[in-house]
Amino acid sequence: MPEVIDTILSRRSIRKYTDEAVDDEDIITILEAAKWAPSGLNNQPWKFIVIKDKGTMKELAGCTHYSEIVMNAPLLIAVHLDTETMYNKTKDIQAIGAAIQNMLLACCDLGLGAVWLGEILNQSDKVNLILNCPDSLELMAVLAIGKPDESGKSPSRKELEDMVFSEKYGEKF
Ligand SMILES: Cc1cc2nc3c(=O)[nH]c(=O)nc-3n(C[C@H](O)[C@H](O)[C@H](O)COP(=O)(O)O)c2cc1C
Repeated sequence: MPEVIDTILSRRSIRKYTDEAVDDEDIITILEAAKWAPSGLNNQPWKFIVIKDKGTMKELAGCTHYSEIVMNAPLLIAVHLDTETMYNKTKDIQAIGAAIQNMLLACCDLGLGAVWLGEILNQSDKVNLILNCPDSLELMAVLAIGKPDESGKSPSRKELEDMVFSEKYGEKF
């Protein structure tokens, strides 16, 4: 099986981490993977904030129901849409999704565990205040990353036949 397919299929959300710090070299690799995601007009409408400071994590933990994950991760990466670079909101958000998935796959290949946190967007104003973000930055996600301390659940997926059609919608593939 091609390695990339193997990584896509074996990646799972990891929500428990050891205390070990993530190497700076690995952080750069994760960010490079994000940077090389496709984007409409190649506009790269993203900003990434790397957070290792426990004080900041504690503040961010107050912005989500997933406070335990946020508190216990050795590394967080906040992902923002830079509305000043935006040209089409739908396409720009799609590009950010691609960048996030690249980061999750890079983590997996580096032997790191990661989870995409979206619930924290309910308090994005508070998050942006903590992170000193200008109004032009719109929070898209926070990734929690660290050396895995669990193997991750294996959530099921719907069957292909429930989502794929042949030629016309509703026709069996
Ligand atoms: C947009 C988005 C938001 C998510 N938000 C959260 C979250 O707030 N908390 C959490 O624990 N997992 C979150 N997840 C992870 C999903 O729960 C997880 O990807 C899904 O259950 C499938 O599991 P898997 O990633 O292990 O395949 C989010 C994933 C996506 C794509």
